Order: sequence, then structure tokens, then C-alpha cells
Amino acid sequence: MHTIDEYLGMVECRIKELRYPASPKGLYEPIKYTLDGGGKRLRPVLTLAVCEAMGADPANALNQAMGVEMFHNFTLLHDDVMDHADMRRGRPTVHRRWDERTAILSGDAMLTMASVLVGENCPTDKYRKVNELFSRTSMEVYEGQQYDMDFEERADVTVEEYMEMIRLKTSVLLGCACGMGAIMGDADETCALAMYAYGEKLGLAFQLQDDYLDTYGDPIIFGKEIGGDILNDKKTWLLITALSEDESGVLMREIKTPSEPSDKIDAVRGVYDRLNLPARCHELIDRYVREAIAELEKASLPPAARDFFVALAENSRTRTH
Ligand code: IPE
Ligand code: IPE
Ligand code: MG
Ligand code: MG
Ligand code: MG
Repeated sequence: MHTIDEYLGMVECRIKELRYPASPKGLYEPIKYTLDGGGKRLRPVLTLAVCEAMGADPANALNQAMGVEMFHNFTLLHDDVMDHADMRRGRPTVHRRWDERTAILSGDAMLTMASVLVGENCPTDKYRKVNELFSRTSMEVYEGQQYDMDFEERADVTVEEYMEMIRLKTSVLLGCACGMGAIMGDADETCALAMYAYGEKLGLAFQLQDDYLDTYGDPIIFGKEIGGDILNDKKTWLLITALSEDESGVLMREIKTPSEPSDKIDAVRGVYDRLNLPARCHELIDRYVREAIAELEKASLPPAARDFFVALAENSRTRTH
């Protein structure tokens, strides 16, 4: 197995090789801005590492890894419009740096570029599987994003509904990243399913931590504004749990007649603190990290590969960005 930094190097190198037409600038500059703007590159690293864990050359999965990363970046352009988010990766979001119509159209182009990358130089025996996985995953992500928006308007969202929503909007893409690596690495069916399930469970832990950081993170390190979920009435595990346990009426009042943004964030975070939600959220994250590792064991990987994916899963609960 390579190290995580080596996989990251392969991804960054391939991103630098991407060439964009010179015009229209309004379409391509935001794409380059987004792709060159960093990010953890977790999904492409998963694809490359899974491919290699199957005993194949990770380079075999580089196009699919890039396709998944391009798709992820496309979702962020539209997500930031939907979430009224001004900052990402420590810089203005595309719809703030340019405008909403730019974020929509550059996002559209990125989706097409993603599907081209996923199929690029893909051997014919794998092409169909790769495309089916990619199409199914994309549709699920859109469903998750719609539930995410629908839930903003509801106060009776259950934890079960939330878990299914984050499975769709976030987890399936991590599962897909692993699945792509498995297909390109010629994994057997049991192993491919186990790695997909690992990615899916990892995604649940990952999104729970993202929601935690949206309230409790350091904006400089996290690279996004803190409190956006609270201002949007996002039905995170934190808010759903607080709504079911808090008897002060603060939350419903802030949802119906919100205070000034910074006061609303302070008031809601105060309720979370009183209910000890940060620690309880991390207990839940730990549960999904353990479940991810349990799925991983079913793949019976060589020890070095297993340890790589265990470390990656454990990082999802301690990450600060
Ligand atoms: C952000 O994903 C969207 C979520 C699913 C939480 P990442 O946290 O992986 O974003 P980057 O690519 O590292 O910026
Ligand atoms: C993002 O969820 C899921 C997708 C982009 C599909 P969030 O809305 O929480 O992601 P961030 O926090 O903006 O990165
Ligand atoms: Mg968002
Ligand atoms: Mg969102
Ligand atoms: Mg978030």
C-alpha cells in the first residue's frame, strides 16, 4: 500500500493535468478555482487505496477517482447556493465570488466532466458497472439533498429520517468511491460489497462530524462559516435531539421568530451545551466508525490495507476540517 500522502500526490498531480478551454472564461474559471482550491480529497484517496488493496495498480482507478472528486466538487457549487453559504475551503464560494447563475452552470459542466472522467479509458468489461454505480449514486445524492432542504421546513424530523438523509446526500458517494476502486481493482463480489459498506458507514460518521464542526468548529481551520446549519434550521442530529429533549422553548422560538444571526447561533448552541450534545454526538460517531471497521473486516484485506482503512475511519471522528 502507498501512504495517504502518496495517494494525495497522485490526485493533485492529475488535477494539475486537467486542461480547460480558454473560453468562455465565465464557465471554466470557477471550475479551476474550485478544483485548485484544495479540499481533503478523501473520496479519490478511497478509490485509489481500495483499488490497490485489491492487489491492482492504483493508477488503474485514477480516472474514476478523479470523476468522483469532480462530482463531489460539482455538488458543492450547488449545495452552497442551496445553503446560502459564503465560505468554503477558506475562500468565498463560487456564487459569492461570481454569482448564482455562474455556480449553477459551472456546476452543470462539472457534472458532465465527472461522467466523462468516470468512463475515460475504462476497460469495456468494467464500463457498465462503473457507469451504473455512478448514475445510481448521483440520483441518491440528489434525493438526499432534497430531503435536506425539505427538512428545513419541518420540526418533527426523526433521527431515523436524518440518518437516511445523510446516507443519501453524503455516504453513498463515499461508498461509490470505494466501489469504483473495487471494480477497477477486480475485487470479488464479497470484497466489493464490504468496501462499499465500509464507505457508507464511514460517510455517516463523516457527516455527523461535519454537522458537529458546523456548530463547534474553528472557522479558520474548518474553512466554512460556523453556524450556517443553525441559521438554516438544518435538521442535524444536534438539532433533532435538542428539539426532542429541551423544554425551555428556546429552540422553537428561534425557529419561528429568529433573533439576530449571532444571537440565534449562541442561543441554540447554549441549548446543545446544556444537553451535553457534543460528547453524545461523538459517541454516535464512534458507533459508526466501529460499524465501518466491522464492514471492513468482511473484506479480509492484507494487514497493511486493513490498517490504512482503520486509520482513515478513526480520523473521521477527530478531524477538525
Ligand atoms: C463537504 O465534503 C461536504 C460533505 C459531505 C460534508 P468534504 O468535507 O469532503 O469537503 P472537501 O472536499 O474536503 O472540501
Ligand atoms: C453536503 O452537506 C452534502 C453534499 C454536498 C451533497 P453539507 O451542506 O453539510 O456540506 P457543507 O457543510 O456545506 O460542506
Ligand atoms: Mg452546505
Ligand atoms: Mg447542504
Ligand atoms: Mg455541513
